[in-house]
Amino acid sequence: MHFELTSETNFDFIFIFSDSFTLKMSPKSVLITGCNRGIGLELVKQFLALGSPPQHIFATFRTMSDELKKLGDENKNVYLLKMDITDIPSYHSIVKQVEEVVGEAGLNLLINNAGLLPTNRDLASVTPEDMRQAFEVNCVAPLFFTKEMFPLIEKAGKASGETGRSLSKAGVVQMSTAVASIAENTGGGLYAYRCSKSALNMSMKSMSQDLKDTGVLILAMHPGWVLTDMGGPNALITTEVCCKTMLETFESLSDKDHGTFLRYNNTPIPW
Ligand SMILES: NC(=O)c1ccc[n+]([C@@H]2O[C@H](COP(=O)([O-])OP(=O)(O)OC[C@H]3O[C@@H](n4cnc5c(N)ncnc54)[C@H](OP(=O)(O)O)[C@@H]3O)[C@@H](O)[C@H]2O)c1
Repeated sequence: MHFELTSETNFDFIFIFSDSFTLKMSPKSVLITGCNRGIGLELVKQFLALGSPPQHIFATFRTMSDELKKLGDENKNVYLLKMDITDIPSYHSIVKQVEEVVGEAGLNLLINNAGLLPTNRDLASVTPEDMRQAFEVNCVAPLFFTKEMFPLIEKAGKASGETGRSLSKAGVVQMSTAVASIAENTGGGLYAYRCSKSALNMSMKSMSQDLKDTGVLILAMHPGWVLTDMGGPNALITTEVCCKTMLETFESLSDKDHGTFLRYNNTPIPW
């Protein structure tokens, strides 16, 4: 059976982006998980290409790739941090390493990008272990990593002295997927992936309520159906189009977007 990594109501082909030098998106620091390949790797490249690139780009990886190593070697503002996101006890040391670099300025933006699409996708093949692994990577890890990082993110918001929410000031992006939408699921299948990302959306929503007084902008984003190992060869957009458009969307987000579920091209997705 063939499953597509896009919603049944597909708006993935509508994209907008302008040249990077026109983007004013300018967090002083950003941490992205899962940067050795795919969307995470391209996000690092696109942050580096901004008119005002972040002073500190923390790129976590589980397996080093040549491309990520090169980005780290060639750019003083790229810090490579090894982390398996299911290793919750290691979070404390990652936070300490980030804190040593950013100090009292805090961390402006956390993008929980690392994710897992188990290979058993239909009702006949899905296993309890697929469900557990997907929940661990796609829901448990982003929730607890955000909790551990949050004091540094809140600090960045306060240090900015700005009013109103923005991802340049202080934000958390949970990388979700349109196939997590219950309202749009007419295709079935993808049990472990869909369920774990719907649960991620719910934990994002609760955090956005519980932490609303901190002024940190928290939301879930679908990056589009993207040509990566996960997206496969039939996907609709390149990592470059995905990440350029996402940064354009990031730039425009404000108070009204807190606790929402958006496509990379800034269109809402029904829960
Ligand atoms: N591509 C799409 O069409 C699409 C559509 C909707 C949503 N998304 C979401 O976008 C995000 C990125 O997707 P992608 O297409 O770039 O996927 P990808 O090419 O499969 O890359 C997945 C990334 O997650 C990392 N990762 C997985 N498990 C990990 C763990 N336990 N610890 C640390 N890192 C781990 C991988 O590291 P290793 O190399 O070490 O495994 C890799 O860097 C995911 O959250 C995905 O669900 C993608």
